[in-house]
Amino acid sequence: MQRYTGRIAEIQLHLGERNALIACPVEIVPEPGQYLLAVNDDSLQATPLFMADFRSQGFLAAPPIPESWRPGDQISLMGPLGHGFSSPQYIQRLALVALGNTNARLLPLVNHDRLNQPSITLFSDAPLVGLPPDLEAFPLEDLGDSFNWADFFAVDVPREQLSILGDNFRNFQREPVVLRGQVLVHGCMPCSTLADCGICAVRIKRSWKLTCKDGPVFDLAGLLRGIAL
Ligand code: FES
Repeated sequence: MQRYTGRIAEIQLHLGERNALIACPVEIVPEPGQYLLAVNDDSLQATPLFMADFRSQGFLAAPPIPESWRPGDQISLMGPLGHGFSSPQYIQRLALVALGNTNARLLPLVNHDRLNQPSITLFSDAPLVGLPPDLEAFPLEDLGDSFNWADFFAVDVPREQLSILGDNFRNFQREPVVLRGQVLVHGCMPCSTLADCGICAVRIKRSWKLTCKDGPVFDLAGLLRGIAL
């Protein structure tokens, strides 16, 4: 896999969220939901970097960012990796649902292609960092109200909290309608496609898929069916 050299141009702290501005070749900036694998020579630990926003000289990487990273550090980058969010046509009302402790990985879906945006609402209990001023946000306890409103869901969930996804969408699963949505599953990816270690596996319908390679964005209905088994 080809490696590129990037640089940590800036570390940003807002409401406890630690983002990193990554300077890198624009052709490797990941699409929403995709990731780059980053290695800092000091730590030798591979870190998946998801895009929180585009920047002219690279991108703003969503948390978590390793505490050891400092502005000016050089990093080795591989990717972009994985399957990101795809944009189904004919969406009029999009619900963004952040079930983890940050909204950052979902926000590129708002800033992206602004002219053809559906109506978008965010449901989240995470700190409201970096939200566009016209994006409405509600706590997760109001998510049930969106089931009659949204015609597509874009969800972000930590892999170790997949049961929360089932809990939050349980009512919707009982409805005799086709569930339309995609889920970004994130978490520990120790080999990130390089060794097929299997640690990142999730069940989609009746089969196991690797988050690092087959995801990290999966079809919502298939993931819910896998959780229910
Ligand atoms: S992290 Fe090893 S297979 Fe996905």
